[in-house]
Amino acid sequence: MEKKRRIKTAVLISGGGTNLQALIDAVSSGEIEHAELCAVISDNKDAYGLVRAEKAGIPRYTVEKRKAERNPDGSVNTEDRALKQAEFERELVGVLESTGAELIVLAGFLAILSEDFTKRYPERIINIHPSLIPSFCGKGYYGLKVHEAALAYGVKVTGATVHFVNEIPDGGRIILQKAVYVKEGDTPEILQRRVMEEAEWVILPKALEMVSADMAKSEALNR
Ligand code: GRF
Repeated sequence: MEKKRRIKTAVLISGGGTNLQALIDAVSSGEIEHAELCAVISDNKDAYGLVRAEKAGIPRYTVEKRKAERNPDGSVNTEDRALKQAEFERELVGVLESTGAELIVLAGFLAILSEDFTKRYPERIINIHPSLIPSFCGKGYYGLKVHEAALAYGVKVTGATVHFVNEIPDGGRIILQKAVYVKEGDTPEILQRRVMEEAEWVILPKALEMVSADMAKSEALNR
């Protein structure tokens, strides 16, 4: 029997890695059958997601961004910041290339990626965002801030979105969305947890399977 083509996928994380865990579990259960997790890359050496990767036997890497220097007046030196960003992305690309990654999943990855980086991988980077885009997304909306904003606005329904990443923050083509009800008495923390359990951990594995299956199919057609 011909071996199934699995798309080599690198998962980029910064923290706890519960979305990474959902992907690991979906690969072992067979829900994801067209992707293999070839690397977990963290921009934070203490991220618990790295432990999850180790337990699952996935090669893991840390690529940390160095802090930009300050000007004598205390403001950030923008030239140095651009330099450090370029250095960080060069290192990231080096690791990605060394692992043979064909697809990249941002699963709670907090570092900003420049247009230079995203242009290298058109429709090959996917991200999970904890709201229904275009609500509560874009610059400054990450982590708990998204849920704080949803509660402050008073929406009754929120959710999560998986989308391709391009040069516009949270602006790439939407792959999947799932709605979650806001409940009376929700705090940002409670809502964050419900959005993860009911939406993020469900649609991220689904989206990875959809995108990798499409990649495998179009490769087979072009053979
Ligand atoms: C999730 O809410 C995700 O949507 C956001 O960051 C959080 C990461 O959680 N981008 P985890 O590291 O996957 O547990």
